[in-house]
Amino acid sequence: MTPDFHLLLFPELAQPPILSFQAALFIFLVTLLLAFYFTPGGLAWALTKSIIPGPVSALLGAFTGPTPHRALAKLARSHHAEKLMAFSIGLTRFVISSEPETAKEILGSTAFADRPVKESAYELLFHRAMGFAPYGEYWRSLRRISALHLFSPKRISSFEKFRRQVGVKMVEEVKRVMSVNGHVEVKRVLHFGSLNNVMMTVFGKCYEFFEGEGVELEGLVSEGYELLGVFNWSDHFPVLGWLDLQGVRRRCRSLVQKVNAFVGRIIEEHRIKRVNGEYVKDEGVGDFVDVLLDLENESKLSEPDMIAVLWEMIFRGTDTVAILLEWILARMVLHPEIQAKVQSEIDSVCGSKVVSDSDVANMRYLQCIVKEALRVHPPGPLLSWARLAVHDVTVGENHIPKGTTAMVNMWAITHDEKVWAEPEKFKPERFMEDDVSIMGSDLRLAPFGSGRRVCPGKALGLASVHLWLAQLLQSFRWVPSDGATVDLEECLKLSMEMKKPLACKAVPRVVV
Ligand code: HEM
Repeated sequence: MTPDFHLLLFPELAQPPILSFQAALFIFLVTLLLAFYFTPGGLAWALTKSIIPGPVSALLGAFTGPTPHRALAKLARSHHAEKLMAFSIGLTRFVISSEPETAKEILGSTAFADRPVKESAYELLFHRAMGFAPYGEYWRSLRRISALHLFSPKRISSFEKFRRQVGVKMVEEVKRVMSVNGHVEVKRVLHFGSLNNVMMTVFGKCYEFFEGEGVELEGLVSEGYELLGVFNWSDHFPVLGWLDLQGVRRRCRSLVQKVNAFVGRIIEEHRIKRVNGEYVKDEGVGDFVDVLLDLENESKLSEPDMIAVLWEMIFRGTDTVAILLEWILARMVLHPEIQAKVQSEIDSVCGSKVVSDSDVANMRYLQCIVKEALRVHPPGPLLSWARLAVHDVTVGENHIPKGTTAMVNMWAITHDEKVWAEPEKFKPERFMEDDVSIMGSDLRLAPFGSGRRVCPGKALGLASVHLWLAQLLQSFRWVPSDGATVDLEECLKLSMEMKKPLACKAVPRVVV
């Protein structure tokens, strides 16, 4: 058959086949969907040239559940992606590392020195505070000022007397609650003590337990925690932004007004003291409000910036310390032999006198208990660590595009049996043999983060936890309340809390 004869029989073959518009669109969409479907890491990674292992579907379930750190650890294992796993939430591109070396590379790199600012953080004006400020001169100057005037060893020891008083007050409050209820929910007491401590260091103010202005402050702080901790759909699906379906924006705006009034009032009180000549600069006893008011020239902050900086300290400094102490006391109730051992250490170091920071330095086992609690129950297992790639960067062999959110799953690292022997076991003794640093140099255990944005309050936080733990263990034997067990179930909000708050008995100890 000649070609001409062929055309005679099938004339449509004379023209190249032309697809209808609908068919072309259909093929295009199917190809796109397949490309998205099979892209490791899911939708947000589909248009990048990176191929990093990770789940192809969105991870909404993991993030809206109570323990995203566990869900992400499991996924990383199942994708053999402990070093680095890619995933998407809506249009947000994520990578997460569950392995010390890669984690160190991420946290130590200047490419990841920014943080993604969630809508709630932005609305609460935290982008002007240290934790969310972009990496640059403003952030650097806030770090410098606070390192010098809030977190320096000299400042921390100058507030020791007040810290001790807070500890004594907590002991009294525990006694009072025990005499009324026969058991104590420790979280409220610890939270209020911790809040008072930060309030004194930052604002130079303290409050009575559960009375007057202190209650108002507690309300503002808990509302802020809830808003910052909530999974907000608008952060990942921009089209939902203007709808504000969860009411996050509305609630943030209402909270900001109250916070401005509350903190503004305290700043005004400091200004009045100056006008009345009641404040003398440079005595080393001023609080952080005084430090910020003393700044001069280009370092001077506007009032809204001051409010953001001061308010952030309350958020970062209160919850983490109280939550960590609650976990430790839960462990003490569960492990009476560990409790007895540390109590005998406390007794041998300081007998019945009130514990001080210098005593704590001689309580090695107590410090190991705190380390072990930070390993098993890290207050920030992953979310508060998020970093943002400011430019394209390579991690290991992987290309990470600008704008990717990077996280470290510290919980996965501290529960990895390749890194820790018997990781599920609460065993403070492991640190008597292997004195791992927890300050950020060793990523096997870095509960305060690492690199340029490492927690600046780590020494202050540890000083408070060590001292109060010693005071609480010196004063009471912590035992289960009648018929109740200690439930170690977790719930990750802004920090990783106990899902069922610890309720137990505190039996007064007599130290001879
Ligand atoms: C047990 C107590 C604490 C824990 C576990 C903790 C944990 C953390 C973690 C994991 C980070 C992120 C670090 C990173 O990205 O590498 C952080 C940042 C931060 N923490 Fe803490 N923290 C504690 C106590 C405190 C205290 C007492 C304060 C202040 C009063 C504080 C203030 C901050 C600030 C301002 C940042 C942001 C730093 C920046 O982005 O430059 N923290 N903290």
